[in-house]
Amino acid sequence: MPPAIPYPGPHPGLGAGLDVLLPIREDLDLVEAELARRCACDAPAATEIGEYLRQSGGKRIRPALVLLGARFADCAPTTRIRLAAIVEMIHAATLVHDDIIDAAATRRGRPSANARWGNQKCVLAGDWLYMQAFRLALEERHFGILDALIALTQKMVEGELLQLDRLGRVVTAAEHLDLIERKTARLFEVSSQLGAMAGGLPADAVDRLSQFGRHLGLAFQMVDDILDFTADERQLGKPVGNDLREGKMTLPAIYAYEASAPAARAVLEQVMRDGGYGQVPFAEVQRLVEASGGLERARAESREHARWAGQALETLPPSPWRDALARLPELVIERSA
Ligand code: IPE
Ligand code: IPE
Ligand code: MG
Ligand code: MG
Repeated sequence: MPPAIPYPGPHPGLGAGLDVLLPIREDLDLVEAELARRCACDAPAATEIGEYLRQSGGKRIRPALVLLGARFADCAPTTRIRLAAIVEMIHAATLVHDDIIDAAATRRGRPSANARWGNQKCVLAGDWLYMQAFRLALEERHFGILDALIALTQKMVEGELLQLDRLGRVVTAAEHLDLIERKTARLFEVSSQLGAMAGGLPADAVDRLSQFGRHLGLAFQMVDDILDFTADERQLGKPVGNDLREGKMTLPAIYAYEASAPAARAVLEQVMRDGGYGQVPFAEVQRLVEASGGLERARAESREHARWAGQALETLPPSPWRDALARLPELVIERSA
């Protein structure tokens, strides 16, 4: 077995609050080792791309959800480590494909995999990573887990496809919610429930964890969409202003559009039509989403989901694991990367 590569350490994106993950620090190191061990194959490009992404860091929030959720049930350590590695692999595969689709040049503070290896290799490396995740899942011999992971992956792909269908057009908040439910919240939901499910936790308690994950995931994507307008690109480690440029109307823009007069609406439409900030500078769009109240309304909505996530935990028995989960909504809301 190759030497364990330590978990890259608290990502500044979740701030100092990452001490919340200390109770699962050892587990997170084991997940890194599992990822290193299981992401190698005969094709150098797939191995290198998987390794590059892993070594770039990332917050590891989805594996953390698996590891904490597993503690609510009698889930074997090998199972929880494997399940945590699986969700990070699915996430990594999604990022590789998503950056091709979004033509993103950076990810996790480095050139994106597509910028380094090109789209062709990255499509295939992403496919390989997905299948490797399912190969690991198969080792659990648990149809419920396979079912959840397959349904989830299909939902994520549906989300990305829906997003492509809607590129460049004005969408409603309800349409957007449906989309982020699929492309992001479902993975958070399944990550939160997976370990508990494998450990045989009763269905109603598993459902609480699912609800927690779902609301956390919705809040997480809303904050991601806000950061696309407000963050410092170097701190974020990925492009800003990319959503509107790519023709994606996210919550801050949707609410800004709703609240604006025709002239301001035309500005947002023009950026989507141009596919860039040549005519309308990004700073003008930032001012517009701020002044129209679009950003604040999106923030308020993300805070609502964070609150609902916290509430979902209330009927679960108190434990250090529940305390750790309970701090995540706030960290997600306050994150800056
Ligand atoms: C990025 O996820 C994709 C979204 C769902 C917004 P993360 O922000 O969790 O990415 P890493 O893993 O920390 O890089
Ligand atoms: C994230 O959507 C959803 C995924 C399934 C990767 P984004 O396109 O907003 O993610 P980032 O901002 O590139 O990380
Ligand atoms: Mg993207
Ligand atoms: Mg984004």
